[in-house]
Parts: sequence; C-alpha cells; structure tokens
Amino acid sequence: MNAVTPALERMRARRVAKILSYEDARKGARRILPRGLFDYVDGGAEDEVTMRRNVQAFQDITFRPRMAVMNPEPKLATTVLGTPISMPVLTAPCGGMRLVHPEGDIGVAKASAKAGTIHVTSSASCFSLEEIAAGSTGGPKWFQLYRFFSGELMENLVIRAQAAGYEALVVTVDTVVAGNREKDYKNGFSYNMRVNAKNAVKMAPQMGIRPEWVYRFVRDGMPFALSNTLSPDGQAMLLTAMTRLATESQSPSWADMAWLRANWKGPLIIKGLLTSEDARRAVDVGAEGIVVSNHGGRQLENAPATIDVLPEIVDAVGGQTEILLDSGVRRGGDVLKALAIGAKAVLIGRNAAFGLAVGGQAGVDRMLSIIRADMVRTMRLMGLENVADLDRSWLTQQSIDRAMAAR
Ligand code: GLV
Repeated sequence: MNAVTPALERMRARRVAKILSYEDARKGARRILPRGLFDYVDGGAEDEVTMRRNVQAFQDITFRPRMAVMNPEPKLATTVLGTPISMPVLTAPCGGMRLVHPEGDIGVAKASAKAGTIHVTSSASCFSLEEIAAGSTGGPKWFQLYRFFSGELMENLVIRAQAAGYEALVVTVDTVVAGNREKDYKNGFSYNMRVNAKNAVKMAPQMGIRPEWVYRFVRDGMPFALSNTLSPDGQAMLLTAMTRLATESQSPSWADMAWLRANWKGPLIIKGLLTSEDARRAVDVGAEGIVVSNHGGRQLENAPATIDVLPEIVDAVGGQTEILLDSGVRRGGDVLKALAIGAKAVLIGRNAAFGLAVGGQAGVDRMLSIIRADMVRTMRLMGLENVADLDRSWLTQQSIDRAMAAR
C-alpha cells in the first residue's frame, strides 16, 4: 500500500455504488479505460449490426405475466450440467481482462464464486489458467479453449486445465479467424500490442487522459502477454497475434472433437453454434452442452441474434443436451426470456467486464447483484415463482412467432 492506493479504493467504492444498470457500468468504463481498450471490449465486427441485433431481439420479446400472485421469494437456483448455481447466469470467458483491471479474471472468478455461480475462464487470459484456478476461491470453474497457433498447444491446455481442477471444457468454435473489428485497427489496439517506444508514443495521448488506469497497469507490470501460451523459452503470444493469424484457425474444428471428447474427463460444451444442424453435430460428437453464441457480435457480422435462433436449436436438441446462450444479455428480464424459450442458463461477458473496469471485483459483484435483483423483481411482477416453471407460455405468441419466422 502507498498513499495513492487508499484514495483510489475510496473512489472505486463510490463509483461502484452509483451503478444501477449495464449502461451505467458501460459509461463508467468509458471514463476509466483508454479508448482503444474500451472499444475493444465494447465494440463488435464491421458495422456492429449483429451486436445491436442481439440486444434489439431481446427487447422485441414481451412477457405474458400472471397477476395478483404473491411470491415474495422467487426461486432462482438451478443446475447446469449437474453443478448447482444460485441463479441461471454464468460469467463468460473474455480475453485480456487483466488489461481492464489488474484483478482481471481472478476478480471475475471471485465475484462469481461469491454470487454462487460458475466462471468460465478464458484461454486468452493474461493470467495463466493455474493462477485463475488458484485465485478463484473455491467456486465452480469451467475452462474455455482456443486452439491458438497449434494443435499441440491446444492439447497441452486441455491437460493443464484438467490438472488445475477445471470441471468442464468449453470449446469455442466461432473463431476460425478473428472478426473484422475496425475500431481495433483504427485505435492501434490489438492483442499483440508490444510495449515499445513506437507504441508508447502512439498511445500516449489516450493514456495521458486515463491516469488511474495507467497507474494500475504500470504497477501490474503491463501484462500484455497471453500467459497460457508461454513456452519454456519464455515466449508468449501477445494480444494482437490473435487478430493476425489468418491462416491458422484459433478455434478447434470438428476434427479435433474426437480427441477432446476422448481426453477431457468431464462435461464437454461447444460454444458458438447458431443452427440446428451444428447443434445435432455437437450431440453426435458427445457434447453434453452447447452455447448458442455469436461471440457478442464480435465475429461473423450478419450472424443472427442468438435469442432468435434459440427456438430452432431447442426444438432440435433440447432433450439431448443442455443449452446455454450468450450475446445481448443486458438485464435480468433477458435471462428469463432465454429460459422461457428453453435455455438452461445464460452467460454475461461485457456486463462483467464493464463492472470490472469500474471497480475490479467489487464492480463485478455489483453487476451480478443487479442482474439478480432484476430477475427477482421481474419474476414478482410476472407472478412467476420459480425459474424452473418458465416455458413459452410466459412469452407472447407474437414474440415466439417472430423468433420462429427468423428461421
Ligand atoms: C476474443 O475472444 C475476443 O472476442 O476478443
């Protein structure tokens, strides 16, 4: 501790207490983070059509509430793949969180454990998977897998994740190449930003107006490297290399699934699917779960909104695998909409990342308690006693028809 730290802590507590919604956290993060980093978290691919559509599609769904029901304590607890969680919301894997705040993924994992839910650790983290496992205070933890630049690295990550005690493997399949995130190119922000004189000069104007972030980042040793890719000779991939690998797939392919299924001793979840055909394929390769996801609108521009394709996927494989969803979840009501259509739970990414930017772990605690309070209030207003009771009868026919028409 030095003289600056207690003052920063007081500021952080005040800022966190003021957050009431996703949009508040987003605005707070915009004030704290350098522009390149804020845009990296906030932005999506190309014209951000899919990113906006994710949110709009949730907003277009309306509830069929049942009035005059007294339910003072709605029940939010559920299980995913056998793991009990206190509410149907997990924290999603997000790369580079230690750049957002030094507490990074460990802060998100601790907040998730405190909230009684699962954190999905990103393989594109600036902490190693072992550091996150050790720091995550005993909460349930899953590991998200990229292939990065070689099958060998991917297999090594799987072996390490198993040894570190991760309970489930989440294989991201929508990142054959990085999406076209033009803001990142314009801002000079990419995964592989090296700390050198040229970059320092280029980024100086952005950094100069974000002193608090710069202070924390420098004290943290400027952790740009993707720790999980560190080789014995001390070389690690940096955050921009991911956006540059155009020939090697960063995602495992269907051909890798047999090895993954045979070697991962625990639930296998395939993340990034948007069609019933792929969902059936996931079941065929032995996946116990899938995540309907378009990577928060960061990968394939003009991919459909995830909530719009959820009915098709639930109808195809709902009885054979557990279905999770991410992309566009902003409020507790969105969680209930996804569950009403047939998802078991949802994942939140930017939601937690913006909380982290504003207040480290305390900011993520706040975002998780806001989404929980949203769900409780909405369930009381809907006359819904238990999330397990949700089905499509809780949504207007018009909403369901609209989603089915999107097929
Ligand atoms: C990485 O997965 C990213 O979306 O930036």
